[in-house]
Amino acid sequence: MQPDAAIYRARRERVIAEMGEGVMVIATASEVPRNRDTHYPYRHDSYFYWLTGFTEPEAVVVLVAGSAPRHILFCRERNEEREIWDGFRYGPAAAREAFAFDETFAFDALDAELPKYLENQPQLAYIIGRDMAWDTQVMGWLNAVRAKARSGVQAPVRLVDARVWLDEMRLVKDDHELALMRRAAEISTRAHGIAMRATRPGRHEYEIEAEMLCAFRSGGAAAPAYTSIVASGANACVLHYVFNDRPLADGDLLLIDAAAEFGSYAADITRTFPVNGRFSAAQRDVYELVLAAQTAAIATVRPGALWNDPHEAAVRVLTAGMVDLGLLHGAVDDLIESGAYQRFYMHRTGHWLGMDVHDAGDYKVHGAWRPFVPGMTLTVEPGLYIRAADDVPAAFHNIGIRIEDDVVVTADGCEVLTTPPRTVAEIEAWMRG
Ligand code: GLY
Ligand code: MN
Ligand code: MN
Repeated sequence: MQPDAAIYRARRERVIAEMGEGVMVIATASEVPRNRDTHYPYRHDSYFYWLTGFTEPEAVVVLVAGSAPRHILFCRERNEEREIWDGFRYGPAAAREAFAFDETFAFDALDAELPKYLENQPQLAYIIGRDMAWDTQVMGWLNAVRAKARSGVQAPVRLVDARVWLDEMRLVKDDHELALMRRAAEISTRAHGIAMRATRPGRHEYEIEAEMLCAFRSGGAAAPAYTSIVASGANACVLHYVFNDRPLADGDLLLIDAAAEFGSYAADITRTFPVNGRFSAAQRDVYELVLAAQTAAIATVRPGALWNDPHEAAVRVLTAGMVDLGLLHGAVDDLIESGAYQRFYMHRTGHWLGMDVHDAGDYKVHGAWRPFVPGMTLTVEPGLYIRAADDVPAAFHNIGIRIEDDVVVTADGCEVLTTPPRTVAEIEAWMRG
């Protein structure tokens, strides 16, 4: 058996218990062509992996709840020819043992075998509406069961989005997940340190991106968790800048939003620092403000506090600070109420973090912001993006700053998992080497 198989089996048992009755069917991700005969690097589906720990494409997990619970996996057959080209496959027999399933079948047997598990079940749970081809396939299986109506077989009458259970469970990380997230955070933290020290005027954004990617892979990470943003000067005011092709100019800031995925779990870090190693007075003023907003936001994260508390704390600090800097004019409460601060701070202060960078889980429950509980992981990432304009003091033109860290809610507060140099003094000292 795989070392972690019992962990995944226990997750499936929890899902089965929560469902109470019926069947859940979850497919892994498809391979995606990049051009003619090559594919994008394969990444399994997060829900499927959370339930199985199984990383091969062409696989489906079926969970039968009720009085006779069953864990079933469909996966690719062994194939000597394909394994010469593409590498090892477990095949159904070995996968049953290694991944702690009750039954396994060849992927090719899906249409023949899967509808049998739907017979006389009251409900069918799957991920509804994410992939039209999958929706069509599931409907085909339902209709195959309905076709047997005259022999007394009933098809499920309730279709439920499986995310109603899976998102809630994925939202609170177990110790196994937190250990992987710590590794992702450590690798990413180290990469940011390397990138800061590699930065100097005349190098290019892509060279610094390459330093990050090298640090991710040499740290054992599978891949970046998302497309790296390496944005210097005015590019930092483009929130999803990904061209990463500009030379680094003396006097500019460099914003890097990049992090690794380790063991299928993401980190998500942003640091902003001066290309020449020294903040200018205006850069320092804006940086200190974003830092104060982040510190205030992190201080709100504890069990019982609400999802929106960090955002509200960050918005208040940023808005008050922007009035002090002459970027906004008026009363802080009015500027918050009217949303005027959004001219310079147009995104929210964080998101859930896990297998997906923007991870599973609702932010509101019954219309109210969700309270934090231990084991939830989230980012805290305030920023300010000051585009050049006639009514903006010239010293602040084209300054874009974000500071992003990953935190886990603990029993009495939160722990920050990501620790690259963060204060002005720490960054300048680190860059001096
Ligand atoms: N890197 C994606 C984000 O910060 O949300
Ligand atoms: Mn983020
Ligand atoms: Mn980010």
